[in-house]
Amino acid sequence: EKGGYDHFMLKEIYEQPRAILDTYRGRLLADQKLIKMAGIDEHLDKFVNANRIIIVACGTSWHAGLVAEYIFEDLARIPVEVEYASEFRYRNPVITDKDVLIAISQSGETADTLAAIKLAKENGAFVFGVCNVVGSSIARETNAGAYTHAGPEIGVASTKAFTTQITVLSLIALKLAQEKGSLTDEQFTSFLTELEYIPTKVEVALQSNDAIEKIAEVYKDSPNCLYLGRGYNFPVALEGALKLKEISYIHAEGYPAAEMKHGPIALIDESMPVIVIATNKGHYEKVVSNIQEIKSRKGKIIAVVTEGDVQVKELADHVIEVPETLEALTPLLTTIPLQLLSYHIALMRGCNVDQPRNLAKSVTVE
Ligand code: F6R
Repeated sequence: EKGGYDHFMLKEIYEQPRAILDTYRGRLLADQKLIKMAGIDEHLDKFVNANRIIIVACGTSWHAGLVAEYIFEDLARIPVEVEYASEFRYRNPVITDKDVLIAISQSGETADTLAAIKLAKENGAFVFGVCNVVGSSIARETNAGAYTHAGPEIGVASTKAFTTQITVLSLIALKLAQEKGSLTDEQFTSFLTELEYIPTKVEVALQSNDAIEKIAEVYKDSPNCLYLGRGYNFPVALEGALKLKEISYIHAEGYPAAEMKHGPIALIDESMPVIVIATNKGHYEKVVSNIQEIKSRKGKIIAVVTEGDVQVKELADHVIEVPETLEALTPLLTTIPLQLLSYHIALMRGCNVDQPRNLAKSVTVE
């Protein structure tokens, strides 16, 4: 059942090229310059005329929502707010019939997300679901939706659900961008082409597994870890930190790279590993200067960079390369090494990778 892998988590990490492909197959029609998604097509006016999109989710799905915020605003120019479902449902939010609410949930059973949907519906919003489990409560409660085709995710720590959620949300953003004319034809086509390369590029990213295992060996006993990313990779930093704390029980925090100097920099000394996502697009130079600041305080730097990187390689203690892609699609690649790093560290610490203590696969009580 684990298909030759030692753990479901590792199997699911390796399933990502396939899961991403399955998620866009039949929807992304590059030769026709078309994105076909029934749930969107049937309600296109709701999306195009929306005053804003509100995204609600929990945990890893919330991180996918943050990535989606960047993509929707960047490509489709629609204002987006991302909220923890638990906060949204209790804070008396302003919701109107001009709002579209997107609920993201792997299990489709998360109690807070379900309650947020009910609240939004009561207030007249159009509610769209991005779920993995077919026929789940959230899938049934929403007005329309699009499934991620990740296949069953058994490991409690979410991996392929995250990347397939980003895939679905990217497709939606692209479809709306095309509809609204907010991207040029050329930009739109290059997105479709690049999205089609992602499964192959994830395969390439997975080839760093052995190198990542060696890095894990060095840092497995660290009590703390800091994750930094900027722009599209800020949510990836949050997700990297969540993955590490969930399965290895190491205290980890994710921050937008520029926020470092507003506090977390005080934590940096020779015993602090800092994982920095420093791909070549989107404020690369600024991230490089963050890396210099960490280095001058003797922090240990593990950098995720674009293939062929020169500058960061000179500064970092370890570099992990991922293939080049469009900035908006980098989260699909940069997430991979962070999943593997957490996996190996947890394993070396003797943790139960697939069933971490105190956690459940679906959180059906608030
Ligand atoms: C993280 C994790 C949790 C879930 C969260 C939401 O690895 O598993 O943070 O992401 O409980 O679950 P869903 O997506 O099922 O609503």
